[in-house]
Amino acid sequence: MILDPQGQDRGALYRFLITVIVPRPIAFVSTRSRDGVSNVAPFSYFTAISDTPPYVGVSIGDRAADPKDTLRNIRDTGEFVINIVNEPMMDAMVRTSGNWPANVSEFGVSGLTEKPSTRVQPPGVAESPVQLECRFVQEMALGSSFFVVGEVVFAHVREEVLTNGVVDPLKLLPVGRLGGDLFSLTREVAGRPRPRVSRTTGLEG
Ligand SMILES: Cc1cc2nc3c(=O)[nH]c(=O)nc-3n(C[C@H](O)[C@H](O)[C@H](O)COP(=O)(O)O)c2cc1C
Repeated sequence: MILDPQGQDRGALYRFLITVIVPRPIAFVSTRSRDGVSNVAPFSYFTAISDTPPYVGVSIGDRAADPKDTLRNIRDTGEFVINIVNEPMMDAMVRTSGNWPANVSEFGVSGLTEKPSTRVQPPGVAESPVQLECRFVQEMALGSSFFVVGEVVFAHVREEVLTNGVVDPLKLLPVGRLGGDLFSLTREVAGRPRPRVSRTTGLEG
């Protein structure tokens, strides 16, 4: 199979990208509207960008005159929380992704619980093992999406997912997004030490 993006419609390119760039981490983004309505929705166009300061990025599809609630709330308030999705909360996370009206809180429709944040106004998701409290840094209009960059200003990590003070993937059990309606579960991990190479001599050791 080959694919030339020229002449392909948005749906075909979307289906192609989401099936080959896998598995993708899921930013379960909670926000609050100007009117105080809490919102939470999943976004798998999600990545870490910088460590110092800690910047993360989420790409939110352009819906022209009717922006997604998450984007509108971030623009209005400058704050959001990224909650990491684990296996037990997978079904509730999928439920929040329906096209719910702006005045409906997805916390209510999914049965998830609001958790007060420390440095920002929007609540986190109490069922999630990790909350990254973020302040808006920058937004870029890129193609059919808006890439939103946030700075992590505070983080909460549940003690049970740690081994010797470090997040353990087999305790975190993160869910990844694949193409279509498919998800990957974390059941096995593989360790591979990276080569230590001198940049000047090219020698390993
Ligand atoms: C696992 C998963 C990942 C998703 N990733 C994205 C994404 O990266 N960008 C996006 O615009 N929509 C994504 N969506 C769709 C949004 O979650 C959906 O449009 C949602 O209704 C937006 O909610 P909001 O209007 O409350 O912001 C994803 C849906 C699911 C189930």
